[in-house]
Amino acid sequence: MHNNPVALVTGANQGIGLQIAKDLVTHGFTVLVGSRNLERGEAAAKEVGPDARAIQLDVTDENSIVAAAKRIRSELGRLDVLVNNAAIADTRRLPGMSVEEYSKSTRPSVVSLDELRAVFETNVFGVVAVTQAMLPLLREAPAARIVNVSSGVGSLTRNSDPAYPWRSIFGPVYPASKTALNAMTLAMAIELESTGIKVNAACCGHADGRGGRPRASAPRAPRSGWSDGHLLQPGRPAPVVISFIRVIPPYTPGDSGATKDRKNLTQRRKGENGGQINSKKMTKGTNDT
Ligand SMILES: NC(=O)c1ccc[n+]([C@@H]2O[C@H](COP(=O)([O-])OP(=O)(O)OC[C@H]3O[C@@H](n4cnc5c(N)ncnc54)[C@H](OP(=O)(O)O)[C@@H]3O)[C@@H](O)[C@H]2O)c1
Repeated sequence: MHNNPVALVTGANQGIGLQIAKDLVTHGFTVLVGSRNLERGEAAAKEVGPDARAIQLDVTDENSIVAAAKRIRSELGRLDVLVNNAAIADTRRLPGMSVEEYSKSTRPSVVSLDELRAVFETNVFGVVAVTQAMLPLLREAPAARIVNVSSGVGSLTRNSDPAYPWRSIFGPVYPASKTALNAMTLAMAIELESTGIKVNAACCGHADGRGGRPRASAPRAPRSGWSDGHLLQPGRPAPVVISFIRVIPPYTPGDSGATKDRKNLTQRRKGENGGQINSKKMTKGTNDT
């Protein structure tokens, strides 16, 4: 079995996923850089460093998912963290079309069901499929973590508030896919709450998808998120995700990890060890739907 804890990040060949991969390596993880295009994954893994390996993984392709799970078991023998990051925003947004224009063309009354299915296939069903395939490995880990990268634009609570600035673009495609992802996250967390596995949804804030670098003006493949040039924390979009993972205690053979983990979390909540986790804020973000 591999000595270091192992993390798999889906859609890690660019953007927030790539930044999460980099941050996980600095926290002592061996990181599997999930990429539907292996070459791009290999280039990204090289950028991350020697503790990263590329793995071909298309979250909408069952064969690809099964092959990835088999490879992780045979090569590393363990998986401690799964970050379901891969997502798309649309498949039909025309070059030059603003988010507002696209959201108008995808109101519930007119939205293409094909568009809806395509986005849900990646953002919701892809997450469930990858999680199901990786769960046997995660269950064997001492204190596994699953983090689903969600978005505030999917929050029903926020979008019910007329003052929420993104309310006008709440719609059935990307925003509702994130609402559904939040529901899946809660369902997974409820099922797994008696195990050592914790499941959370995280919103990284509003970031350029490629780790804070300016977006090319040329049209490109469908992207997730609603970036459009608004940058927050360039190059640092991943701390929320990492903070969910950092509650993993050091692995001690023979210790299930769950007890120590609960103690660590309690200590952080009490602020006894100066931990950086604001669990109240995180929980609010997670359950905000
Ligand atoms: N950017 C934001 O402001 C923002 C805000 C809130 C939440 N988020 C969330 O953060 C996550 C990452 O967003 P991002 O802005 O970094 O997006 P991005 O730059 O568009 O990257 C998305 C990644 O997902 C991959 N992907 C798409 N479909 C896939 C599939 N079927 N199988 C495997 N990988 C697939 C892409 O691969 P390819 O390179 O092959 O296309 C890419 O690596 C998403 O879950 C997004 O919803 C983003």
